[in-house]
Amino acid sequence: MKAGEKFVLVSIGLLVLFSVVRSELHVKEKHDNDIPFYSTASSDVAKNAMDVIRKNNCKNCHSLWTLKDMLESVPAPMLDGIGSLRTEDWFYDYLSSPDPQKILPTRLKKEYAMPSYASLPEADRRLLAKYLSSLKVKDWYLEQTKEAEYKKLTGLEYKK
Ligand code: HEC
Repeated sequence: MKAGEKFVLVSIGLLVLFSVVRSELHVKEKHDNDIPFYSTASSDVAKNAMDVIRKNNCKNCHSLWTLKDMLESVPAPMLDGIGSLRTEDWFYDYLSSPDPQKILPTRLKKEYAMPSYASLPEADRRLLAKYLSSLKVKDWYLEQTKEAEYKKLTGLEYKK
């Protein structure tokens, strides 16, 4: 290959590399500045609810306030944004049910499925329902959140 041809090829290669890197940085920048999940709860409600969540090991199965396993194959849907998909009453009934799979069927073995929290004190169930319903997702990420939940619950691709 002639020196001139080499020079042209290397230049093209660098240009392609440069534009790929630039668009990657661009995408990252957009998401760094705009996390789609937020809570409308007061700091008291948030703090107390997070205590109940910690005590009951909800995060053994669910992700919440972590980007790490947002779409990873942990068994349960993420709780971030869940308050944009369901209501406070729904959460209360679900947590209070002796058999949550009657409300939301599972595709998992019993040990991975949502346990019943019917024996939790009523105040804790109310608090959890209130907090869960405060976990919102911004409109621009609502479809992706629905899609991720659907995949977790059914194991199927989401039909728009
Ligand atoms: C053993 C794993 C496990 C634990 C622990 C667990 N969950 Fe779940 N949860 C699941 C699974 C799996 C589902 C999906 C339904 C099913 O398969 O039973 C689910 C479903 C849910 C849903 C409904 C999600 C949706 O898509 O609407 C909510 C809300 C929820 N869990 C909240 C909690 C809270 C709050 C706690 C702690 C008090 C908790 N979970 C503890 C596994 C778990």
